Amino acid sequence: MNGSFIDFRHKELTPQVTVLKMSHQFMINYNYLVVDPITREAVVVDPAWQIEKVDQALADAQATLSGILLTHSHLDHVHLSKPLAAKYNCPIWMSHEEIDASGYRADQLVGIDESPWIVGKMKIQPILTPGHTPGCICYQISDNLFTGDVLFAEGCGICPDTEAAYDMYTSLDHLKRVLKPHTRIFPGHSYGRQPGRIFSQVLQENIYLQFRDKESFAAFRLRSGQNKSKMFNFR
Ligand SMILES: [Fe+2]
Repeated sequence: MNGSFIDFRHKELTPQVTVLKMSHQFMINYNYLVVDPITREAVVVDPAWQIEKVDQALADAQATLSGILLTHSHLDHVHLSKPLAAKYNCPIWMSHEEIDASGYRADQLVGIDESPWIVGKMKIQPILTPGHTPGCICYQISDNLFTGDVLFAEGCGICPDTEAAYDMYTSLDHLKRVLKPHTRIFPGHSYGRQPGRIFSQVLQENIYLQFRDKESFAAFRLRSGQNKSKMFNFR
């Protein structure tokens, strides 16, 4: 072999994550543009409220939008899906469970399970995490996890009833088993901490990751006032 040959095949080029803070009236959502550095293909997670910011982020990254990842069907996570899918002629991905439970429909909608697929050179790995809604999905791309309303740095999403809270406990327990400590957590909302905190920190700081059984978790998650005025009072 030529002595000057340099083998880049094992050089890891990690996806680039752009954090987009979106607002509408009192709502603030975090969207994420994830760009494959090799092909410049991109996906956007839970787009809502300010389409011009998505357009600008794509232009800045010199990327093309290849698809839209939806964690769940709530309006503040799907708001820009249809206009973006029409504008960039790309699919919208959502779990079969969420489609069935919510009735959400779009021309470009593709139902998914936990089977991974490739965009550009990026592996998209869905992880089913029901609880906040019946078909919530987290998406893992390289060492980044996009968690929607499942896991926040400061807490977890609201659960409508005891069964949903049991599901949430199981989902969070599953994440504790499968995530590497250095995985970066990118939630749909922030309640004080910046998106992109590493999981080992979240594991120490987040009270919802401390429970050892679903009953005590559900009792805490559903404690008085949590679905009303104290929704974001996580402790
Ligand atoms: Fe939600």
